[in-house]
Amino acid sequence: MNPSFTWGVATSAYQIEGGRHAGGKGESIWDTFSDAGRLADPGDVACDHFHRWQDDLDLMAELGVDAYRLSTAWTRVLPDGDGQVNPDGIEFYRQLLTGMRERGIEPYLTLYHWDLPRSLQDRGGWPERETVDAFERYATVMVENLGDLVSNWITQNEPWVSAFLGHLYGIFPPGQADWAMALRASHHLLLSHGRAMEAIREVDPDARLGIALDCRPTRPGSDPRPATRHFDGFRNRWMFDPIFGLGYPVDMVVEYESAGRIPGGLESFVAEGDMETIAASNDFLGINYYTTVEVTPGAEERDDPEGPIGGSDDPRFTEMGWLVDPAGLEEFLVRVHDEYRPRSILITENGASYSDGPDEDGVIDDTRRIEYLAGHISAVERARAREVPVDGYFVWSFLDNLEWLQGFSQRFGLVWVDHETQQRVPKASFRWYGERIRSKGALGG
Ligand code: FCB
Repeated sequence: MNPSFTWGVATSAYQIEGGRHAGGKGESIWDTFSDAGRLADPGDVACDHFHRWQDDLDLMAELGVDAYRLSTAWTRVLPDGDGQVNPDGIEFYRQLLTGMRERGIEPYLTLYHWDLPRSLQDRGGWPERETVDAFERYATVMVENLGDLVSNWITQNEPWVSAFLGHLYGIFPPGQADWAMALRASHHLLLSHGRAMEAIREVDPDARLGIALDCRPTRPGSDPRPATRHFDGFRNRWMFDPIFGLGYPVDMVVEYESAGRIPGGLESFVAEGDMETIAASNDFLGINYYTTVEVTPGAEERDDPEGPIGGSDDPRFTEMGWLVDPAGLEEFLVRVHDEYRPRSILITENGASYSDGPDEDGVIDDTRRIEYLAGHISAVERARAREVPVDGYFVWSFLDNLEWLQGFSQRFGLVWVDHETQQRVPKASFRWYGERIRSKGALGG
């Protein structure tokens, strides 16, 4: 077990940067969705981090985190996805990363947090294998230009969400609703992780590499019959199994094939050697954890595709309508350790949406967020006490940002953002988390 523990915060490019047309940036599939009015708020400005990053990093330094998980916008660096490199995009990220280093904050750089270049989507996007080639080149460009500033790389963020919310439910871009497309996309997203790791290691053999997988563990109260196993296969095992060399879960392949969801069979898109590439050894596994689900028969392929309940007064749920279940995190960590044996686990996202804003004195008393974070950090401590190698924890999120379809209505930040004026106000949870980091406690630091 690693004696040191990494405390961090996380964001993603589209959710905070803005600067949609700045410095030669190209368009992504989220710009397409934003223009079509499919987001509650347009993403063109977001938190204007593109112009305010120095102040944001100062605030982060004040918080006292060891590490910051950010993502880069593929379209800033390669506006067309696989054409000319844009020097202004590289320069922006070099300045940002240098600013982090100057403040003693270690970057954890995610290459893909859902913002596919539009020109690659026009050529078919993730269901097409060419997108994997383009991603591999993007990874090479990034390590060649930023490798001296970045040691920790995360290839893909939540490939399940990209594949299934984007190609099966059709609620995320590109808005397709087709099983075969979703399954092809899922394979290419996983393959792109393996290929990017190879590409990065070729340039920097010492780089530390991983992927951030989302999860929806099932709750003990779930229907004990095959529905729960099916849901787990659909939602969790489909991504975790191949990453750890178990291939696609056979029970799911059989079910999907018999339902006609893989026309031509897996071999129509899984080429020889792909599964080995996907299963190449990671330096760490990132886990994004928010909640668990209770599976009921007939709902075994549902993952709130209709979006959040929102504004619930029921204290058991956050405002995303997600159940608060810290014990679920502990159990899932133990399970991942038992079944997959990752060498190191990082909680790359965990946090809660609560809309508490400034009172008349300007104070933001977000006690519910503090309770949520404290509960989940305790769950990490318990998992470590059970020999699970969890070596870091990143709060989602540093800032109140653009929560995808829900726009600014869902607030996950430790820092309040007034989306009219772009004013930042640290919340009580910001102070609490800073003290939690400094007190070290059983997790160390
Ligand atoms: C995760 C995403 C992240 C954020 C949180 C609430 O699925 O990775 O960007 O939206 O959910």
